[in-house]
Amino acid sequence: MSILFTPAKIGPLELKNRFVRSATVECLASEDNRLTEKYYNVYERLAKGGVGLIIPGNYFVNSIGRAADKVLVIDRDDVIDDLRKLTDIVHRHDAKIIGQINHSGRQGNPKLIGEQPISPSDVRDATYGGKPRQMTELEIEDTIHAFGSAAGRIKKAGFDGVQINGAHGYLVNQFLSSHTNRRTDQWGGPLENRMRFISLIYEEIRKEVGADFPVLIKINCEDEISGGITLEESIAMSRMLEALGFNAIEVSGGIYEAGFVTTKGDIPAEVIGFMAESLQKAAAFKEGYFLPQAAAIKQNVSIPIIAVGGMRRRETMERALLQGQTDLIALSRPFIRQPNLVRQMERSPDADPINCTNCNRCTWEVTVRYKPLKCYYTSN
Ligand SMILES: Cc1cc2nc3c(=O)[nH]c(=O)nc-3n(C[C@H](O)[C@H](O)[C@H](O)COP(=O)(O)O)c2cc1C
Repeated sequence: MSILFTPAKIGPLELKNRFVRSATVECLASEDNRLTEKYYNVYERLAKGGVGLIIPGNYFVNSIGRAADKVLVIDRDDVIDDLRKLTDIVHRHDAKIIGQINHSGRQGNPKLIGEQPISPSDVRDATYGGKPRQMTELEIEDTIHAFGSAAGRIKKAGFDGVQINGAHGYLVNQFLSSHTNRRTDQWGGPLENRMRFISLIYEEIRKEVGADFPVLIKINCEDEISGGITLEESIAMSRMLEALGFNAIEVSGGIYEAGFVTTKGDIPAEVIGFMAESLQKAAAFKEGYFLPQAAAIKQNVSIPIIAVGGMRRRETMERALLQGQTDLIALSRPFIRQPNLVRQMERSPDADPINCTNCNRCTWEVTVRYKPLKCYYTSN
């Protein structure tokens, strides 16, 4: 049997195979913060399709932390019933589900949140052209509590664990990265200080969920921007995250400002004119584009590593697992097009069914234009 279909563990959580559906925003929640039938259908199809672990698109810990429209804000208990329906659907089809929580910080869209976004420092983000406002001590404390309460709701709703989005240039990443964190107080400067925000979030979450509930984090191995997180730094960070008690690390990379580097591949035609040639080069697709960095991090920690970013061919995935480069394989874009790809790979051991072209139309339509999650690929 292929190693892809052997079980794995994250803390006490048992997974039936090595496949993870990486968090993918759906823009399918209603205007009044409810999950819709279309949303549930996405997850029923995925769970039926054989993937061992599903991570839905991020839930925002409060309103000012929103980076997208029609995505759940998880700051009130009245979201728990809808989320419980979701976890029941996924569990009915023998898959596990972990809830990702996030705050967008300076990557929040001011038009959407109705105010100036906040960040550890007021470093301009070219994406929306604006400068964020530096967070006060009180705002930092409130945000730490918001992560804790959100995680508590995730547990109450029946999820099998919680994942903090500490990657892709969002608020946790903004604290970790010297590019966006220019503070000279206890929250900025040396890595120990930049880690304070995530350390306190972790402690707050543990108070809410207890010692046995899996707590994961997604991080950037590299920000891919000058002055940002480097691999050397993310290795040091990963050691500290393991020492804190995190149960697994998903290894990704890139921030908004660096272009399409989190989702490498083609640049949609509408965007190409606005992007410098250097950014287009940085976004060039290569299979398993963060895998070498994930492997480097794995050598330095003993908790499970989840590799994400352009994992496409069976041979690459099997080799990565057999050579100990990663423990789990996460995919996002291919599952949009083919929710049943794991079942297909399991049934046909010689098949390599993934046919996602990395055209990034989904990245553009969903994450920038807040259109519903689906494959937007057209061949012309
Ligand atoms: C439409 C879309 C929405 C995404 N939403 C999230 C998200 O909510 N949280 C997150 O951590 N990553 C998000 N990502 C990034 C993916 O989880 C993943 O890291 C990235 O797409 C690379 O994996 P892939 O090459 O298999 O697509 C999103 C990607 C896409 C294309």
